[in-house]
Amino acid sequence: MSIKLELLYLCQRDVLQLGGDDMSSAIQDMEKVFILKEKKDVRVPDKVSMGFGDSISEEKTKGRINAMPGYLGGEYDMAGIKWIGSNPGNLSRGLPRASAITILNDPDTKFPIAIMDGTVISVARTGAVSGVATKYLSKKDSKTLLLIGAGLQSRTQLEAVLIACPGLENIYIYDISLEMAQRYALEMGEKLGRKIEAVKEGKPYAQKADILITVTGSAKPVIDADWLSKGCLYINIGGFECTYDTVKKADRLFVDNWEAVKHRNASAIAKMANERIIDDNDVTGNIGEVINSDKRGRINDDDIIYFNCVGMGIEDIAIATRVYRRALKEKVGQILEYWS
Ligand SMILES: NC(=O)c1ccc[n+]([C@@H]2O[C@H](COP(=O)([O-])OP(=O)(O)OC[C@H]3O[C@@H](n4cnc5c(N)ncnc54)[C@H](O)[C@@H]3O)[C@@H](O)[C@H]2O)c1
Repeated sequence: MSIKLELLYLCQRDVLQLGGDDMSSAIQDMEKVFILKEKKDVRVPDKVSMGFGDSISEEKTKGRINAMPGYLGGEYDMAGIKWIGSNPGNLSRGLPRASAITILNDPDTKFPIAIMDGTVISVARTGAVSGVATKYLSKKDSKTLLLIGAGLQSRTQLEAVLIACPGLENIYIYDISLEMAQRYALEMGEKLGRKIEAVKEGKPYAQKADILITVTGSAKPVIDADWLSKGCLYINIGGFECTYDTVKKADRLFVDNWEAVKHRNASAIAKMANERIIDDNDVTGNIGEVINSDKRGRINDDDIIYFNCVGMGIEDIAIATRVYRRALKEKVGQILEYWS
């Protein structure tokens, strides 16, 4: 018997051509991922984080490579893994912080069927998660957004939040580097056709924000409890970016996957749980439980809501599967010989 096996390889240009960065589709994918997760039609092994250094704060200078495998059921029915390297030091070399490869595996034979750039997909899916959080947890008449951190992830955060909440009128960007914030305001303002103001301090704008997002590479908290006003949805995307008091001030606490958040132990809410300052009952729920109506999200306009996501490989697999299936239809990518 002769066996001939092939793989589809998609470079970053292919992934972009196939809609890997399409934010509206990514938001729809993430909603489906969270629903499948709550239905337990997924496999989400713990993220393996290979940090270079002895602590999560050392990772912020020395970098890490994470392995994020998963299986996603439903219409996706696909297994795979994202293998993502990250080094904040890359920025000074003119390189992005993160670079990812995503591999898809046939869920039956378990053979690899595709290898693709996962960087574009990774940035899109993290933005899309905040889009979903905004859709379900923000005040309906939210008008003011402050983003803290003007890196790559912050760009897709803004795209997604604007899709989920198109009525936003005031958009502010703060970064420890004013130059980064100004560049962001110019570039994203042009791209999205919106006025974006780069601000020199975060706190006064955070206090006005209906939606506040921290998406920095900071190793220590950048916001404190008195930065949050009534009604704010605070989305914590980077790691340890807020004080414990900030979490305590929130009326309702949501995450993408509570077990995974605790396991990664990178954010304030995870550290508080691992130090027994809060327990599982203090966490209101996973965002999927709000989408499928098992839990209420926002109860009233004064609620301060905290949302933290650790990120799951199944989010990347969802978008990668959509891209892969379209590539087959449109005959995009390179067929690579695997076994013959
Ligand atoms: N939760 C998730 O699913 C998820 C997924 C991907 C990335 N992330 C995290 O998102 C963060 C941002 O990623 P990125 O690729 O945009 O990184 P990046 O390095 O491109 O940008 C980070 C920005 O944060 C700014 N910054 C650092 N410290 C700051 C501070 N104290 N105050 C204000 N700004 C500060 C930097 O100047 C930089 O502009 C990282 O921590 C990354 O690990 C989270």
